[in-house]
Amino acid sequence: QQQESIYEKIGGTEKVRQLVEAFYPRVVADPLLKPLFPEDIGPVMEKQYMFLTQLLGGPSLYSDKYGLPMLRARHMPFPITPERAQAWLACMEQALDETGISGEERDAIWGRLVIAAHHMVNKSPSEE
Ligand code: HEM
Repeated sequence: QQQESIYEKIGGTEKVRQLVEAFYPRVVADPLLKPLFPEDIGPVMEKQYMFLTQLLGGPSLYSDKYGLPMLRARHMPFPITPERAQAWLACMEQALDETGISGEERDAIWGRLVIAAHHMVNKSPSEE
């Protein structure tokens, strides 16, 4: 019997969309994060929707279009300090609340995102 993915458990495409739509308004309202992002956040939202879909066990939308994620490398042009990783995670925590993702699924998603966010850090605070 096939195991249901987190993606399916939370409600699939609809829920991932809602999460992304709750997340980016917070990112661009955050004084530490805003300067890193383009004026037009739409394309970033679309990529994140595709990436999170596959991260959570849905269709491999991101890799089908962009190839290997190599997210740390793709983030190297941006100065990501530990403070920025914390700010990113704070936005995501609120977005998970707003989207009503709870229980085991939330814990599983949160655990992966905490690891991913720390992995993205590429500048120490003093190098900023
Ligand atoms: C792209 C910031 C963590 C997934 C980006 C971009 C920035 C950014 C500035 C580029 C926007 C542009 O296209 O100009 C950050 C910061 C993080 C963080 C400050 C704090 C730790 C993460 C994490 C994930 C993630 C944890 C995955 C769960 C992505 C994806 C893209 C992206 C999929 C699009 C990559 C592409 O160009 O194909 N991020 N990010 N980011 N980020 Fe992050």
